[in-house]
Parts: sequence; C-alpha cells; structure tokens
Amino acid sequence: MSVAVIIPAAGSGTRFGGNLPKQYMPLHEIPLIIRTVGMFASLPEIGAIIIAVSDEMKEFAETMMNEYYPKRVHFTSGGSERQISIYNALQHGALEHANTVLVHDAVRPLFTPALVRRVIDAVREHGAAIPALTPKDTIKKLTRDGFVEQTYNRAMLGSVQTPQGFDKELLLDAYREAMLDKFIGTDDASVVEYLGSPVFVVQGEEDNIKITTQRDMQLAELILKDRE
Ligand code: C5P
Repeated sequence: MSVAVIIPAAGSGTRFGGNLPKQYMPLHEIPLIIRTVGMFASLPEIGAIIIAVSDEMKEFAETMMNEYYPKRVHFTSGGSERQISIYNALQHGALEHANTVLVHDAVRPLFTPALVRRVIDAVREHGAAIPALTPKDTIKKLTRDGFVEQTYNRAMLGSVQTPQGFDKELLLDAYREAMLDKFIGTDDASVVEYLGSPVFVVQGEEDNIKITTQRDMQLAELILKDRE
C-alpha cells in the first residue's frame, strides 16, 4: 500500500504581502514549503511527493528544494485555482504505484506524524478522511442583507484542515467529474462529496494552522518556540 502526497503550492499569497509567495518565506530560517516537505519526507509511509508550483516560481522552487531534499520531490504545473493545481498533480506519473493520496497545503507546516497516520488509517477503513476541529466560536448562517438566518449546533460542525486523504481511484473519479461539471470546491473533500461519496472525519490539530497572514507567521513562530 503506497501513499503519495500532493502539495499544492501554486498560490500567489496576495493576502500575505511581500514579493515572495508566503510558502517560500522563512519560518525560523527554514522556508514554509521546506518544512512541510520535510515532515512528509521523514515518514517511512510516504512514497511520492508531488508539488504543484506556478510556472513563474518553478525554477526558484526547484533550486530551493534541491538545496534541502535533492531528487525527493516531483513538480507539476499549478493552475489558476487550487483545484486545477491538484487536478494537474493527479495526472503525474509518480502516482502510478500509489493507492492512497494525501493532499496537504504547502502553508501548513506544523502538523505532526500522528495526524498523518490518523488520516492514512481512516482512509484505509473509509476511503476518504479529513481532519477537523470543533469550532470555538458559535457559527451562524447569515442572510445577504446582514441578519442571522440560522445558528448551528457547534458539536455538529468541523473546521477542516489538511492533510486530507483519499483512495486514489476515488479522488481521480471525483476530480474528473468535478472538472466536467465545472464544480469548484474549497477543499478536496468537497470534490469527493460532490461525487456523493462519504468522507470520514478524524481529530485535527490546534497547531496545524494555515499560514495566511503575517500574524499567522508570528503565531507559527510562537508555536515552534514552544516546542523547543
Ligand atoms: O489560496 P489558499 O489559501 O486556499 O491556498 C491553499 C494552498 O493551495 C496553498 O498552499 C497555495 O499555494 C495552493 N494553491 C495552489 N494553486 C492555486 C491556489 C492555491 O496550489 N491556484
């Protein structure tokens, strides 16, 4: 049973500011994407690692990766949407021997091996699995004119993270269908849900934050300091 990882890293990171997309920015001297790849590369369960990068950043990303993990990763072209970046990665030949595929955002470097194993184990049992946390805030659905339409039961809600894991054939089917129908989901599970397949939920991790703003980067620095 071989597990491959797709790391979408083709975003331009406009919410972060600066010239360099945030996935290439250093966190305690090591670029975010290198930390993310390093975590997966250190796990014996993980086979192929495929990174989707934008054409403009391809040379830069390859040079950076070669410095830390020469010959460990494969590259594919990113698309205009995250979903297209994943779809491109799914066509890569390096996936040939994988039967499980994990998808993990380049900008979430603080996950643990335990989370990856929890997701892989659940994929083996259920075919699709995602990590989630129960939101701390009460979540309400709003009307377009700014009123509350509905309040949800927090215990039944999940704030969803990556890595999200899938049986490879299921994910391929789901992505093909979504591309044909021009359905765009905000995560990979929503593409599988669109196909009508069940997705199992495992416990996420508080520190597995998605680094989107400068403040997230400061928080990530604190988390790393705490781990020292
Ligand atoms: O934009 P968002 O925060 O959802 O991005 C999540 C991940 O998807 C990031 O690692 C980003 O680089 C990647 N992405 C991508 N291709 C895009 C947009 C985002 O690979 N077109």
